[in-house]
Amino acid sequence: MFDPKPYIRTVPDWPEAGVQFRDITTLFSNNQAFRQLIDAFVQRYINTEIDCVIGLDARGFILGAPIAYELNKAFIPVRKKGKLPFETIEEAYNLEYGQAEIQIHSDALKPGDKVLVIDDLIATGGTLNASCKLVKRLGAEVVECAAIVDLPDLGGSQSLKDQGFDVFSLCSYS
Ligand code: PRP
Ligand code: ADE
Repeated sequence: MFDPKPYIRTVPDWPEAGVQFRDITTLFSNNQAFRQLIDAFVQRYINTEIDCVIGLDARGFILGAPIAYELNKAFIPVRKKGKLPFETIEEAYNLEYGQAEIQIHSDALKPGDKVLVIDDLIATGGTLNASCKLVKRLGAEVVECAAIVDLPDLGGSQSLKDQGFDVFSLCSYS
């Protein structure tokens, strides 16, 4: 399994004191590592029954779109509030450093759709949890929540598992 850690840069005290920011731009900017990264996710899901890939605003888009393309599945964005033009549903949530609201188009999923939800990183799990709530409100099913990085000390991946979601990450920082 591809280990992305050697390519991820840690920036201390950003965006605020005490946060160890795991910067994935250095992973994406290495062409060979980026290809191995996308291939790792594609191999994991190539034989899984899914209808579409949801990518979470904004870093989840960089990951979700090429994975959806390679799996030959639809790509659906979950966006920060105020960015989607058509009718939406929304959820509010807390982050490691702040609060936010996310939205999905209310016609983006059909009841019964099997959905892979992709983001770059799981911290408190607030973003993925809110996204999974949106998926369920539209009657669709979360097949798995997937990320490059898990920060288990912040409890997000465990709380997602406690709610019955399958969770996958390529690496973690404790
Ligand atoms: C970051 C990251 C995840 C989320 C993880 O996004 O990309 O989406 O936080 O944190 P959580 O598990 O506590 O929800 P951010 O909201 O900073 O937005 P960005 O992708 O636009 O930088
Ligand atoms: N999003 C939330 N917490 C983060 C962290 N520590 N590094 C990168 N992105 C994050």
